[in-house]
Amino acid sequence: MAITVETVSRMHLTADTLRREGKRIAVVPTMGALHAGHLSLIGLARKHADVVVATIFVNPLQFGPGEDFERYPRPLPKDIMAAADAGAEYVFAPPVGEMYPAGFQTSVHVEQLTSVLEGAVRPGHFRGVTTIVAKLFHAVKPHVAVFGQKDAQQLAVIRRMTADLGFHVDIVVGATVREPDGLAMSSRNVYLTEAQRKEAPVLYQALSLARDRIQQGECRRATLVEEMRAVISGRSSATIDYLSVADAGTLEEVEQITPGKDVLISLAARFGTTRLIDNIPVRA
Ligand code: PAJ
Repeated sequence: MAITVETVSRMHLTADTLRREGKRIAVVPTMGALHAGHLSLIGLARKHADVVVATIFVNPLQFGPGEDFERYPRPLPKDIMAAADAGAEYVFAPPVGEMYPAGFQTSVHVEQLTSVLEGAVRPGHFRGVTTIVAKLFHAVKPHVAVFGQKDAQQLAVIRRMTADLGFHVDIVVGATVREPDGLAMSSRNVYLTEAQRKEAPVLYQALSLARDRIQQGECRRATLVEEMRAVISGRSSATIDYLSVADAGTLEEVEQITPGKDVLISLAARFGTTRLIDNIPVRA
């Protein structure tokens, strides 16, 4: 069984004690509704630390108006058991008022990296993410933090924040865990209707096609984007928010891919009201 911690002050005491004992602490931040993707990160965290703290907090600051904050799934007791089974000794699950005390008005913002892709479509989202992750780093005092490749831009933004603010935390990345048909696992997949769920693997099919075409030598962004669009539009009813072929470091679009460079192919699409994102990193 994992020990559940609900207050920042208790988390400080726990982290201080662990550090005094010479333990290496890993944190795995999540918003709960844990699936095999989250659990793989907890497993990976175990390999990098003596003690794993999974955090479960549906962060209101990173949801925009009209997004799914209220309906976001919150199966907390089940999550705590799953986190413990996967290897977490502690679950930090504070109530909202604990992370955002009355009068809260301080935030952490990464500038350029958040102006593109998800940041361009979801204003304020990454400010919410970096603010809560900074606060979780302060509360848990980890040596290592594990994040998923699934949210590639989030990962880039958190790396930037960690370097810029001088957090003494190693960032470790876990590969994207997928369903057998290729759909990236996501807490939001439960919103899909049966028909939408059947179509959703088209996103991974489009990304895989682009990866293969790049590896075969296709360098033109316009061609890759058109091919991905044709796959998605031809096989699904999804509305595409964006299709991107970007520099893996800056996340800026690259019109012509240079051989040997790391690129990130990514997309966001909506099935009805459910918005899904996915990506594949590729070395050209
Ligand atoms: P959440 O969406 O719950 O994801 C928590 C962590 O799990 C993130 O690092 C995410 O990239 C990773 N993850 C999600 N799906 C995955 C998959 N299929 N395979 C591997 N890893 C996966 O991301 C957030 O929460 C929040 O923004 C958070 C960082 C907790 C800040 O509130």
